[in-house]
Amino acid sequence: MTTSRAQWSSRLGFVLAAAGSAIGLGNLWKFPYITLENHGGAFVLVYLAAIAVVGAPIMAAEIILGRKSQLSPVGAFGLLARGRPGGARWRAVGYLGVLAGFVILSYYSVVAGWTIRYIVMAASGRLGELAHHPEALQGFFGAFLASPGEQVLCHSLFMAATVGVVYFGVGRGIERTARVLMPLLFAILFALVVYSIPTPGFGRAVVFLFRPSFAELTAGGVLEALGHSFFTLSLGMGAMLTYGSYMRRQDSIPHATLTICVLDTLIAIMACLIMYSIIFSFDLEVSKSSTILFTTIPVVFFKLPGGAIVSGLFYLLVAFAALTSTISLLEVVSSYTIDELGWGRRRASLTMGFAIWVFGVFSALSLGSVGSLSRINLIGRESTTGVFGTLDYLASNWFLPVGGLLIALFAGWVLTGRECRDELEGGHGGLGWSYGVWRFLIRFASPAAVGAIIVSVILGAEYQ
Ligand code: PHE
Repeated sequence: MTTSRAQWSSRLGFVLAAAGSAIGLGNLWKFPYITLENHGGAFVLVYLAAIAVVGAPIMAAEIILGRKSQLSPVGAFGLLARGRPGGARWRAVGYLGVLAGFVILSYYSVVAGWTIRYIVMAASGRLGELAHHPEALQGFFGAFLASPGEQVLCHSLFMAATVGVVYFGVGRGIERTARVLMPLLFAILFALVVYSIPTPGFGRAVVFLFRPSFAELTAGGVLEALGHSFFTLSLGMGAMLTYGSYMRRQDSIPHATLTICVLDTLIAIMACLIMYSIIFSFDLEVSKSSTILFTTIPVVFFKLPGGAIVSGLFYLLVAFAALTSTISLLEVVSSYTIDELGWGRRRASLTMGFAIWVFGVFSALSLGSVGSLSRINLIGRESTTGVFGTLDYLASNWFLPVGGLLIALFAGWVLTGRECRDELEGGHGGLGWSYGVWRFLIRFASPAAVGAIIVSVILGAEYQ
């Protein structure tokens, strides 16, 4: 075991970095959008249950694997599986994670790059002009998607920022960025929630989110909530495993896991409150389009006082959230080359960043050909056309659930209970009955639930 491995400087450092990975476009874009489509209340409850039963146990499992092995995913499975059932074949789970990180980052960065364009437009006043004419904004957005130059530029800027952080390593790069951006992100979000409280739609937003109506819940909705719990918590591809490998032995895995899950969920709910309050205030007919973040939200912001500042802050918030997620994606890919191929960090971040950038250019260029806005669905389950849609479909329907299932099975059935318990209690103290709850969830409940997602994808279930 290496002794020179980089570490987070404190418990807070790890929690902020990991929460930064979890909180991203999944919370600020995808969750508000799928919750709207699934009629709120009951869907939110199912989502909360999915976080508790599937998300949290698997997150703890990933962190256990990382901290125990002190390696990134491929090496971690190689080391921990040695001499046990399955042996070196478990390394495949690590490779799947690296591949998923590569693929997800390539298109995630394209969408994250859009925020740069919107921040610039908010600052220059152009967003305000467009927002007063919804069709003009739609037109602008369509032209923006179809513009190869702008798409590639924004994607390049976002990838450059991501590489710039990972280049400086765990402490000086990732942790320091998370320490600055995460508190800012919380502050902006809090301010926006306060801003939305006096709006006429706030009450309706609260009722929509918290009054469950089970009649409106569909089987597809349940599966969508389950699938989303993976994406939003950055699970199934070794991001939490890799971050866990930098965690200090004296810090508590159960505490960190709970904090990250609670923060991620709170942020998703807050994003809904902000967006629904303003959407409901104007009784807007929201189309099923997953582009509301870029086409509807600016329109409503500018109907309210301070639209220019508020919308600028809002897109800054989305950009920050996305950046702390993209760095974790690049870290998974880079740390593989560092741990397994012996590369230096600089070479790893620059080379892998460049390779992912090239790959992402294909996604960026495929957007124009998708044509209709409503068919673009970043992290959704509907398959879309083009490189972008295909990659997204592969990642969110296959890579993450399959990776998550295998991680749960490995922690639950290949590692012994004693080993897991030692890791969970190291830095925490005796867990008592709650250890038994985790063990039950990771051995039975989580694999069963994730298995259901995979089976449904194989059967081609409809998600409407
Ligand atoms: N959790 C991130 C989000 O919600 C996305 C992500 C997935 C990041 C997997 C890293 C790994 O946007």
